[in-house]
Amino acid sequence: MSKYDLKGKYVLITGAATGIGKELSRCFAAAGANCVLHALPGQRKTLAALGRELREKHAVKVWCLFEDFLDRGGPEKLYRKVSRNVPRLDVLVNNAGMVVYGPFHRARLGPQENLVRVNAIAYMDLMRLSTPGMIKRGGGRVLNVSSVSAFQPTPHHAVYGATKAFIQSLSEAVNQELRGTGVRITALCPSYTDTPLLKKGGFPEKVRWIRISGLADPAVIARKGVRALVKGRPVYVPGLVNKFVHLVLNRITPRVIVDAISNFALKKDA
Ligand SMILES: NC(=O)c1ccc[n+]([C@@H]2O[C@H](COP(=O)([O-])OP(=O)(O)OC[C@H]3O[C@@H](n4cnc5c(N)ncnc54)[C@H](OP(=O)(O)O)[C@@H]3O)[C@@H](O)[C@H]2O)c1
Repeated sequence: MSKYDLKGKYVLITGAATGIGKELSRCFAAAGANCVLHALPGQRKTLAALGRELREKHAVKVWCLFEDFLDRGGPEKLYRKVSRNVPRLDVLVNNAGMVVYGPFHRARLGPQENLVRVNAIAYMDLMRLSTPGMIKRGGGRVLNVSSVSAFQPTPHHAVYGATKAFIQSLSEAVNQELRGTGVRITALCPSYTDTPLLKKGGFPEKVRWIRISGLADPAVIARKGVRALVKGRPVYVPGLVNKFVHLVLNRITPRVIVDAISNFALKKDA
């Protein structure tokens, strides 16, 4: 399988101001790709600083665009802005995400619906809007930042895991549909990673699983994710233990046991 050359390509990275998105942007720029960085309007200064860093260090072109995916038609508005700024979109990186932690029956409906809109609908919309152009040109890549949460239910942040399962299924299905077109979809599935996400949405300081898995470094996750995209891998789980737990153990263990372990492991660590 030939590797995808990122040099001179145009890449859109959503949620680029912080965490995994920021590190992914650094990796794409280091590989010589021109970067369209996206963030919420409140992140203007942070994104501008990242843009300057990438231009100075890697001599690539950078655009900073702002859109809230909770605004009506937000993903579509972003796509239109991208189309006005760059000659073509070669790579889409769906990364912007949020989390809501706590019992499903007590969480307010609004934040849960927002979670679905940002983590699932925005990914789907941007992927649907970007892929026809890629197919027409005979090549392109989509990197969907999913999660190991896609592989089993995630009690205590049930809707979060459900959005990741949605994206995982969508990524793998569309990747199959696009065989022979030159366009590939990669689902990157990290375990818990040390980013601002884990300090938002009522997420506890620690859940029990973090004691076992630890916290991954977002720079390492990004580097491995970009490598998986370059190789055209459909699914990539960083880390040997994570691969074994989520791709092997999960599948040979009866589902009721997987569900019960998830319930225990994802509880707040006392
Ligand atoms: N951290 C983990 O343990 C982990 C593990 C597996 C997968 N992931 C996934 O990795 C991706 C990146 O998350 P991260 O961990 O790097 O966290 P992060 O630093 O919080 O990044 C998420 C980004 O999405 C942006 N965002 C949130 N709501 C948005 C909206 N309505 N419209 C547009 N942008 C919005 C955030 O902006 P603000 O900062 O301004 O709110 C933030 O920059 C997410 O999809 C997440 O689910 C994370």
